[in-house]
Amino acid sequence: MPKLLIAPSILSADFGKINEEIASISSHADMIHVDVMDGHFVPNITFGPDQIAKMRSTLPMDVHLMIEQPEKYLEEFAKAVEKAHGRRDDSYLTVHQESSVHLERLVQQIKGLGMKAAVALNPATPLVSIESLLGDIDMVLLMTVNPGFGGQSFIASVVPKIKELRAKAPDLNIQVDGGINEKTYRQAVEAGADILVAGSYVFGAKDRAAAIAALRK
Ligand code: DX5
Ligand code: ZN
Repeated sequence: MPKLLIAPSILSADFGKINEEIASISSHADMIHVDVMDGHFVPNITFGPDQIAKMRSTLPMDVHLMIEQPEKYLEEFAKAVEKAHGRRDDSYLTVHQESSVHLERLVQQIKGLGMKAAVALNPATPLVSIESLLGDIDMVLLMTVNPGFGGQSFIASVVPKIKELRAKAPDLNIQVDGGINEKTYRQAVEAGADILVAGSYVFGAKDRAAAIAALRK
């Protein structure tokens, strides 16, 4: 199984000082998780490529696209990551399985842009829907909440899906996102997750470094 990585989600950070917020966790975390929401795929709106381009991150970026028709915007997001981070080849664009009927095409598009390609599954979406793609992608994101908002509760019924995926793909990066904190992370890690996204738990903590360290225990 790959080494455990922590990816704080900036959805719960203070956007009035986003680059200070990113800097506050950069020497403790492994990736920055960036949640893009369009008000259609999920009932919330965040930001787009122009705002990402103005971010500054020394850590690889992990852009979680909760949007309809992602194919229209992938190139803009790839350029934005390069502006924010100085390179794009170590960073992910994650598209939702539920957002496209041509998922394989999206994966190839992301790879063609020189980025790592990942696919996200909502809690109710079964693994069989992406089985044919497992050899082509760099990461699977298993949502442990219904996407749209930070601060929701971990859905424990996703844990068997993490186990099933780990059994099928021993070397794959398996990311979990939603409701991860010091009480829930262990179930996900024991089931086989190796990349933990945590938003409200990290950015809401008095001591962010300690909160991140607690997820590595
Ligand atoms: C939810 C987002 C998550 C969110 C997680 O739709 O995809 O990345 O920021 O927030 P917490 O960790 O607070 O559940
Ligand atoms: Zn996310």
